[in-house]
Amino acid sequence: MTPTRIDLTAPDDWHLHLRDGEALASVIGHTAERFARAIVMPNLKPPVATVAQAEAYRQRILACLPPGARFQPLMTLYLTEQTSPEEIALAKASDSVLAVKYYPTGATTNSQSGVRDLARVHAVLEAMERHELPLLLHGEVTDPDIDIFDRERVFIERHLLPLQARFPALRMVLEHITTADAVEFVTGAPAHVAATITAHHLLLNRNALFEGGIRPHHYCAPILKRQTHRAALLQAATSGDSHFFLGTDSAPHARETKETACGCAGLYTAHAAIELYAEAFEQVGRLDRLEAFASFHGPDFYRLPRNQERITLERTPWVVPPSYRLATSTCVPMRAGESVAWSLVRQGS
Ligand code: DOR
Ligand code: ZN
Repeated sequence: MTPTRIDLTAPDDWHLHLRDGEALASVIGHTAERFARAIVMPNLKPPVATVAQAEAYRQRILACLPPGARFQPLMTLYLTEQTSPEEIALAKASDSVLAVKYYPTGATTNSQSGVRDLARVHAVLEAMERHELPLLLHGEVTDPDIDIFDRERVFIERHLLPLQARFPALRMVLEHITTADAVEFVTGAPAHVAATITAHHLLLNRNALFEGGIRPHHYCAPILKRQTHRAALLQAATSGDSHFFLGTDSAPHARETKETACGCAGLYTAHAAIELYAEAFEQVGRLDRLEAFASFHGPDFYRLPRNQERITLERTPWVVPPSYRLATSTCVPMRAGESVAWSLVRQGS
């Protein structure tokens, strides 16, 4: 019998873009309603590169939470070629910073301050290995000779395997994985190497970029991949393997910056995040494994307690609005104008 309600331990989002200022205030409610905690990405302009900046950003996030929200932002530092081993020690000692994010220069939104050559940050990685501070990887090469659909696979071969050999105890999360190659790598890795998977990479293959015409709202980094890769991601997410956990990579962009000649990368999914994951798990008949993926594997990896609160979803389809407000503009969410099969049951309703 197909279930009509799902009751689960409150989930966490282990990879999220919240932006800043008015945009942050516009989007935070969607995440706070669904998730108890989220790892907040540091790719602001300028990047969140120090513990002091991360702490200030955390305060700005807390200040715009809706009244009564108990959401906890978990902060990250943006790894630059200027990051010092001393900053890593400060991060480890802080209560707010949980991990450090690696962007290869030019891979995605605000990645200009990222790392051109991993060899330049070896001293920092050594400090992270020693302090057991996880490295969150945007795992793509940006070499113009490499096909955009091969960026993740080549990153694993060229950079991740050597990194793992050099820093065998370094805790790592390969973020927003998109390929069977990444699934294979992470499945075979030790428990201190993990991966996040987005709802959009579980639900869409690369055809979604060209459905009846070009679809800028389905453009993200890493780009959507072919169906065989999507199937491998679905298998991994629903396998019960604790290497894999939820990270939406929800990334709001103003409509006009996506519907343009050179559009930004990112899908906005925070408005329906856990509901979309439920759809994906249901597609393969594995709703029973949603809770472990969404609520257990992440805190276990980060050595944090699992949440005590619970949330409920019910099978009541709803139509996603055509857009949401984003500061002075609007943002077109995933499934805009279309329906989502599961709804969040609001407390008290
Ligand atoms: O699609 C993406 N958007 N991928 C990223 O890695 C960054 C994100 C953003 O910040 O817009
Ligand atoms: Zn991201």
